[in-house]
Amino acid sequence: MRQDAIGVFDSGVGGLSIWREIRRLLPRENTVYVADQKHLPYGEKSDEEIRGRSEKITKYLLDQGCSLIVVACNSATVSALAQLRRQFSIPFVGVEPAVKPAARKSKTGEITILATTKTATSKRQRSLLEQHANSVKVNLLAAPEFVELVEKGEIDTPRASRRIAAFLRSHNLGKSDVFVLGCTHYIFLKDTIRNALPDHVTIIEPSRAIAKRVESIRKNQVRKTQQKPGKQRFMTTANVVRFTNVAQKLIGGAIESAGKLEV
Ligand code: DGL
Repeated sequence: MRQDAIGVFDSGVGGLSIWREIRRLLPRENTVYVADQKHLPYGEKSDEEIRGRSEKITKYLLDQGCSLIVVACNSATVSALAQLRRQFSIPFVGVEPAVKPAARKSKTGEITILATTKTATSKRQRSLLEQHANSVKVNLLAAPEFVELVEKGEIDTPRASRRIAAFLRSHNLGKSDVFVLGCTHYIFLKDTIRNALPDHVTIIEPSRAIAKRVESIRKNQVRKTQQKPGKQRFMTTANVVRFTNVAQKLIGGAIESAGKLEV
């Protein structure tokens, strides 16, 4: 696919939650999605490792003709986005926990952020909290086990429901009335998390906002939008059959072109 395309990458299938919204909003765009499943979970890796992986994937996506890259992973965003922007001249869009809208929305003055260990303990997360959440109490929870569930395509099974409910019961969520999904994998668990929370809790996730941001960059970037539907290509650094099966379940549609990426 050597033509103008949007690159999207994540450690695994989680970033498909962002890809899905981009696809909905911009159906004529070509996209190339990379799931770095051989190196998952990013949430437990060092910044150096994540930067190294992000750089290699970016070079591959550039080689495929991508002129905009979405880092569809909170962990890679906090670890590698600044470096990617310094190193490469195309635009990058990252994903961060939506602290500001959550703090604004809360009526009880308490919110909960669910993220990976990497994101939860990052400097960027601390600074987001200092900037936007000074007036609210924040429960910052790391839930790496939720990533595993989504990687297995277990988003609505009884086991997923039990594990999510048990996790939420075992943490004190206080008076939280807003719940932020700070990992792209968790977006696929939204309904199951919803069922485990009291009705008055609002769940915030960023996929729609990211797609809108991509749309606004593309408006200035793309000279001529093609009229036919875009081509969608998917690559994984691990098992292609497993990726395809889980990805089809998550996006509720067929993956027509998938391959193995060795970088
Ligand atoms: N989906 C990624 C994120 O948003 C992380 C999952 C992982 O730990 O690999 O942070």
